[in-house]
Amino acid sequence: MAMAIAMSAEGASIDRLLAALRAVAEPSRLRLLAICAQGEWTVSELTQVMAQSQPRISRHLKLLAEAGLVERFREGSWVFYRRARVGEPARLARALLRMLPEQDAQLGLDRRRLAAVREARRRLAESYFDGHAGRWDSERDLGVDGARVEAELTRLFADLRPSSLLDVGTGTGRILQVLAPHVGRALGIDLSHDMLAVARANLDRRLARNCEVRHGDMYQLPIQDRSFAAVTLHQVLHFADDPFAVLSEARRVLQPGGRLVVVDLAAHQHEELRSEKRHRRLGFRDDEIEGWLTELGLQPAPPIRLDGPALSVVLWSASCAAAEPPLARDIERSAA
Ligand SMILES: C[S@@+](CC[C@H](N)C(=O)[O-])C[C@H]1O[C@@H](n2cnc3c(N)ncnc32)[C@H](O)[C@@H]1O
Repeated sequence: MAMAIAMSAEGASIDRLLAALRAVAEPSRLRLLAICAQGEWTVSELTQVMAQSQPRISRHLKLLAEAGLVERFREGSWVFYRRARVGEPARLARALLRMLPEQDAQLGLDRRRLAAVREARRRLAESYFDGHAGRWDSERDLGVDGARVEAELTRLFADLRPSSLLDVGTGTGRILQVLAPHVGRALGIDLSHDMLAVARANLDRRLARNCEVRHGDMYQLPIQDRSFAAVTLHQVLHFADDPFAVLSEARRVLQPGGRLVVVDLAAHQHEELRSEKRHRRLGFRDDEIEGWLTELGLQPAPPIRLDGPALSVVLWSASCAAAEPPLARDIERSAA
């Protein structure tokens, strides 16, 4: 009996593997898989990059999703596709992606088109934040009680007292100001020059002499590996088209024994935040963030949820083992 069960389980898994191999054995679908390994994309973005009609792309995606190679998820009226992370087909996807030739002309073109989509979005984000820098208040703008979030963060950092803090997407530098008394030195990084100008003025006014800010991109932090004892991402991740890539980059700069703290919205249905405030993701589920943190070799702590009248904020934190950890680039992720 046990043998029969084992054999049927194996049979099922071989069938699944064969289905996945059949699904990916087509040039456009292999390209799509490679693109989905580089972020979370809507069908219209994938149509743009692949230069194929929407119905064709949708059909390819359906086959890849049914085979368990890509993951489809809906958030409000948007549907995203990304590389699957768990299960045998996901392992197959990772293996295939590693085997893709670096120099292939078509894949190179896809990468360039993807970079152009990203760059256009980056410019939009930059000008949006430049235009809002003077009156930015993340929590107030979202109708969330900022004082409660600050109190939780302060409690955590008063306990931790890290020697150094990197605040990614620092905006007007509010988190630096709040945490300055509890950290050795702190650096804020942001893409928007106007936000940084406001942050500098704020830090100057508050005499936060242990804090400074610098221009940089959260996907490529201008920071050496393992150089910060704590990294915060406060109300930033929902703007990312590849949240996992942002977390990997944050992880890269974390010292052994360090702490990564993500504060963002819990999953919600307020679609208007996309049109009005340029959010890309409608918050995050605990299992999604914790899955990413675990994949990066971090140990997540229980999340702290602060419910507001319309939206909830969650503080997810995770620690890095004190022994020398593997770096993000060493962690098997994709062939991207
Ligand atoms: C909602 S604001 C949050 C600012 C700050 N963390 C706070 O909570 O007050 C998001 C910030 O992320 C920054 N940002 C967006 N995309 C970025 C990127 N690719 N690299 C660095 N910063 C980015 C924006 O310029 C903006 O200042």
